[in-house]
Amino acid sequence: MQKAEILKKLNWFYLLEINQVHLYRMQSRQVDDLYIRKALERVAEVEQGHVENIRAKIIELGGTPGKFGEMMGPFSGSVAGLATGTAGTVALLKANIQLEEKAMKDYKDFIVRAGGDSDLFKLLWGNLIDEDLHTAWFSNKVKELEGKQ
Ligand SMILES: [Fe+2]
Ligand SMILES: [Fe+2]
Repeated sequence: MQKAEILKKLNWFYLLEINQVHLYRMQSRQVDDLYIRKALERVAEVEQGHVENIRAKIIELGGTPGKFGEMMGPFSGSVAGLATGTAGTVALLKANIQLEEKAMKDYKDFIVRAGGDSDLFKLLWGNLIDEDLHTAWFSNKVKELEGKQ
């Protein structure tokens, strides 16, 4: 991949990750269950780490973080306001799983195409595995909640 293309892609992930931070923070305030609230807060912190590592990478490559070619629209949380009660929480977690799975797919595609820069490779792998861990936790919680319904 050419540097310009890498920067464009990194900026796209930068936007995605910022959106994830806001989404999970918002959800952590909406959900009733304390443990899920704390988990969402922690996931938001991990996403903030992704925002920061991508931001640093963009700057390192001579780009400008936040120079987006796309609007917030495609990402923003269609899951807002779903959190009420167990059914609401399950719906919210399922939406999160979809979002995380999409992010994982995009990270995997980027990893395959990025090549070259081993620091970038490491960064993308790290973020990908974090998203996988989020997906696993959300999925496990969905199973648990569905068992109670
Ligand atoms: Fe992330
Ligand atoms: Fe994530």
